[in-house]
Amino acid sequence: MQHNHPLILLNTFKINVNCQQYVALSHVEELPTITQHIANAPHHLVLGGGSNILFTQDYAGLVIKNNLQGIQLISQDAEQVYVRAMAGESWHEFVQYCVSNNYGGVENLALIPGTVGAAPIQNIGAYGVEAKNTIDSVEFYHIANQKMHTYTNAQCEFGYRESVFKHTLKNQVIITAVTFKLSVTPVFNTSYGAINTQLQTMHITQPTVQDISNAVVAIRQSKLPNPAITGNAGSFFKNPIVTQAFFNTLIIAHPTIAHYADAKGIKLAAGWLIEQCGLKGYVHKGAAVHNQQALVLINYNNATGTDVLELAQHIQHTVHNAFGVVLEMEVNIL
Ligand code: FAD
Ligand code: EPU
Repeated sequence: MQHNHPLILLNTFKINVNCQQYVALSHVEELPTITQHIANAPHHLVLGGGSNILFTQDYAGLVIKNNLQGIQLISQDAEQVYVRAMAGESWHEFVQYCVSNNYGGVENLALIPGTVGAAPIQNIGAYGVEAKNTIDSVEFYHIANQKMHTYTNAQCEFGYRESVFKHTLKNQVIITAVTFKLSVTPVFNTSYGAINTQLQTMHITQPTVQDISNAVVAIRQSKLPNPAITGNAGSFFKNPIVTQAFFNTLIIAHPTIAHYADAKGIKLAAGWLIEQCGLKGYVHKGAAVHNQQALVLINYNNATGTDVLELAQHIQHTVHNAFGVVLEMEVNIL
């Protein structure tokens, strides 16, 4: 256990804060000892890659850094393969493992930062695919009852950037491993127009799993800031879902509004709403709205977490005044 440990290299916003106590979790056998540390700490935080977190102050508690490693082939038949990855594995490296073995299902999710263990928490998604499409089960340690549990896909209650781990089980568990059901005979999801355009640019007519992954990586690199260079946590807000009736009034006033049909209503592109408010590139203290993707807030110049939070709140007020739409933060604020 370490005290007053720096977190600047452990969060992709690159916010310069410390935590009171810090411990790394490298083997599941360490969980009972870590439970003791949690019992003695005022608060605890399980940390993966720190790519969906905004620290607004020093963390007055125990940070448990998930370093559980390992990828294992569980079973394979003519159509499907089950792969179990430990929670501390890098998500992108896990995707590359699947791509290099020609296992289909996660190639559209290439280059998303963070760990395998965090993927089920907000049901990560990109380019027409969500983690829930391939997650078979999630293993976790329940801190209060000190037991391992395995949840099926249905028990995880996945939704758009949602799962049971953000609600009833929030702060209650340490996800230790995720098992994925992947396809040996992949059917590609190129419904997101940009993928087809990118494949054409690459002169590919019959894509492989590797080609789709390469196309997604190229699209992401052209749009999203690289956290190794510019601090950020991806989309800062969720895309809001509004009722059809509300949307009918919105589209009269804003005929070009970017939107998609969703099972729960109409999903609006938050980046479009923010850009229409003239906020693309807007700077507030050390934080700014990314000038290529308005849904991404960046650490522009030695930002504090408060700079970023103030900017986020300004965006929420401005968008609400302009469109009557509430933007919910996707990033976890601490
Ligand atoms: P962290 O930020 O470390 O943690 C996030 C939350 O999960 C915290 O509440 C933490 O306590 C909890 N947690 C983490 N691991 C565990 C565990 N093992 N057990 C229990 N709780 C845990 N997200 C998308 O969905 N789609 C995208 O396309 C996307 N693009 C991004 C692009 C960039 C450039 C960046 C910086 C982020 C992007 N994100 C995207 C957001 C982020 O990558 C994902 O949310 C990712 O899953 C976070 O993983 P992490 O390991 O960094 O989690
Ligand atoms: N748009 C604008 N201006 C902007 C940004 C976007 O008008 O500044 C418009 C685009 O023209 C497009 C629409 O908004 O019509 C959607 O933009 P984009 O395809 O870039 O996707 P997004 O909705 O902004 C979502 C996810 C991303 C994911 C991409 C690709 C959320 C909150 N974000 O972004 O996930 O990578 O789609 O599928 O759902 C994340 O969650 O951190 C994340 C990066």
